Amino acid sequence: MENYIEYHNVEKHYKDTTVLDNISFNIKKGEIFVLVGPSGSGKTTLLKMFNRLIEPSSGEILFKGKNVKDYNLRSLRENTGYVLQSASLFPNLTVGENITVALEQRHDISKKERLHRQQIVLKGVDLDPKLYLNRFPSELSGGEAQRVGIARALVGGPEIVLMDEPFSALDPIVRKQLQDLVLNLQKQFKKTIMFVTHDMQEAIRMGNKIAVVHQGNLEQVGMPREILQHPATDFVKNFFADSRVNQKLDLESLLKSELGVDPKFYPKTETLPHYHVDTIKDLVKGCADHPESLFIAQTNFGDFLIEPKRVWKFLLKKVADNA
Ligand SMILES: Nc1ncnc2c1ncn2[C@@H]1O[C@H](COP(=O)(O)OP(=O)(O)OP(=O)(O)O)[C@@H](O)[C@H]1O
Ligand SMILES: [Mg+2]
Repeated sequence: MENYIEYHNVEKHYKDTTVLDNISFNIKKGEIFVLVGPSGSGKTTLLKMFNRLIEPSSGEILFKGKNVKDYNLRSLRENTGYVLQSASLFPNLTVGENITVALEQRHDISKKERLHRQQIVLKGVDLDPKLYLNRFPSELSGGEAQRVGIARALVGGPEIVLMDEPFSALDPIVRKQLQDLVLNLQKQFKKTIMFVTHDMQEAIRMGNKIAVVHQGNLEQVGMPREILQHPATDFVKNFFADSRVNQKLDLESLLKSELGVDPKFYPKTETLPHYHVDTIKDLVKGCADHPESLFIAQTNFGDFLIEPKRVWKFLLKKVADNA
């Protein structure tokens, strides 16, 4: 299969500083291509060059054999979904409006079609449109907001999706769920994804191909297994060794990012049962006692509205993943 995206001898200089030094790599259609490296290594710069948010000082970038400079800028960007570390949703727009706000400029997509697409992409990121379409960003957990960010990136039907540390701000467990989500979406929709992370573990989970960047140089490009078994440089070897993180199930980050919702957004929470929750075990007990109904988990870091079904789904998935 021929190359879909090609970076040829790409360089970026700001005054006397070289930020990217002679970078070349190729990406095939349908691949998840991961750029991994420490802070300041040049990953975001490389990513933003694809849809021309940053122009290279020299070298060229081809998409389907044609220089990105020779595409109409607007259609190049419409063909490129973009997901950032924080979902950066407009606080005054609902989830549905946030998802399609960029499509309002497009004459080829009617209002009816926009509303239809809101539903489709929300379901695609496992959020029930009935529950989420009309919520505001302040009524979402961090993980949910990031799902909406992914839905927004997909709604225009782009061929390419750029993801810049999309999960770095999330708890490890939620992060893994969203990694799985993107891997599944990828299987379903066959997008080509350029994915930036500074976490080697994430790179290995997500990437069909990984490019390790360090101080503006490309240290190695290869399949995850190749990089693990045959690190090309000491940097690659050490970078991988340092990145083994201890992924512990942590109640606070779990409730804050994925499983709990701030009860002040629900009417009549005082009629719901309240449980004091100090541990994951307490949470599971609350869910077991009230499998069908919502309840409030009171913790020393705040109150959270809990949907037991969602907790079950989450825990079952975790068991399955570890089996
Ligand atoms: N406009 C600019 N002028 C000068 N230097 C810049 C400019 N923009 C970026 N840089 C430098 O380019 C280098 C690469 O930046 P880049 O944002 O691509 O890094 P990164 O790998 O994405 O880092 P991080 O993991 O922290 O996001 C950094 O050293 C940064 O300071
Ligand atoms: Mg960056």
